Amino acid sequence: MNANVSALRSEAKRNAIVARTLEWWESRRRALAWRAAPGETPDPYRVWLSEVLLQQTTAQAATPYFQTFIAKWPRVEDLAAAPGEAVISAFAGLGYYSRARNLHACAKEIARRGGRFPSEEADLRSLPGVGAYSAAAIAAIAFGRQTAPVDGNIARILARLLAIEEPIAQAKSEIASAARALAPSHRAGDFAQALMDIGATICRPRNPDCAHCPLVQDCAAFRTAAPEAFPRRARAKVKPCREGAVFFARRSDGAFLARRRPPHGLLASTVELPGTPWTSEGSRERSVSAAPVTARWRRLPGTVGQVFTHFALKLTVYAAAFEGGAPEGHFWVASDAVGEAGFSNMMRKAVDHALKQE
Ligand code: ADE
Repeated sequence: MNANVSALRSEAKRNAIVARTLEWWESRRRALAWRAAPGETPDPYRVWLSEVLLQQTTAQAATPYFQTFIAKWPRVEDLAAAPGEAVISAFAGLGYYSRARNLHACAKEIARRGGRFPSEEADLRSLPGVGAYSAAAIAAIAFGRQTAPVDGNIARILARLLAIEEPIAQAKSEIASAARALAPSHRAGDFAQALMDIGATICRPRNPDCAHCPLVQDCAAFRTAAPEAFPRRARAKVKPCREGAVFFARRSDGAFLARRRPPHGLLASTVELPGTPWTSEGSRERSVSAAPVTARWRRLPGTVGQVFTHFALKLTVYAAAFEGGAPEGHFWVASDAVGEAGFSNMMRKAVDHALKQE
């Protein structure tokens, strides 16, 4: 075991790290929309909702979504009673749409149980869309359980604090045991949130602000010449590329044709421009023969791209004027309703690309 990790066997060392972290939290905590004010009892619904919205998302990006959800559905029973499409639409732009479906399923399950969230990590973990990290975070923040959520920010802090020589992916169990060793029996939620904030504002991936870090005297990476060189980088994998075409059929009043994606799989249930399947580069011809309607299609210059978890996508956009009826499975989106239509970020880029070139 790394000597710095072994140092956490010392209770005095652990206590000192926890005390310094909590002291920092008292004055430097971020005032985020979902957080209970000091002394206030946390509302498990708000904590759960925020943790789901924050999966793979920064606090800054999640905040307007959290505010929209709370304004529309102030209690978990309200969210449970909402139509599925309204929940997906409120999620649009946040990515990872299976999260929206799971969020709704979880709200229904909690409403069925009388609106009460379970307080134990294992019971939280069994809810739809609540993974190991979120279960630990909710148990700690909403219910004060002594658990140790480890997200990317916290893993980075611990990799630096202990100068772990393996990339994070290979050091998961070492990092998890360090987190467990540190989790205090009292104020575990504050401790976890303090680490989240230190990770977001001080122990940043690049240019860590060590001068303002409450853990600088404990940090083994700081004692090396280059704290930023931790966590050690894994070699980047090259993502496979896929390509496709989308069709922007526009009516003279500005409305254009769209359709909804299937309820499962990538970008499930979001609204999109009609288009071809996405296939590996060069594997299939993409042409106007796949267009939803017959029109004088024009290939717009340039492409739009998005990098997903498992592949990078490049879309060609075709545009045409079209005045007929919407074909089966398609509908018109008015030009002033693009923002609320439920497009994913990717499709929003394609729509903007087409609008810009008209
Ligand atoms: N990231 C995930 N959960 C968070 C939280 N509760 N506060 C800030 N950032 C977070």
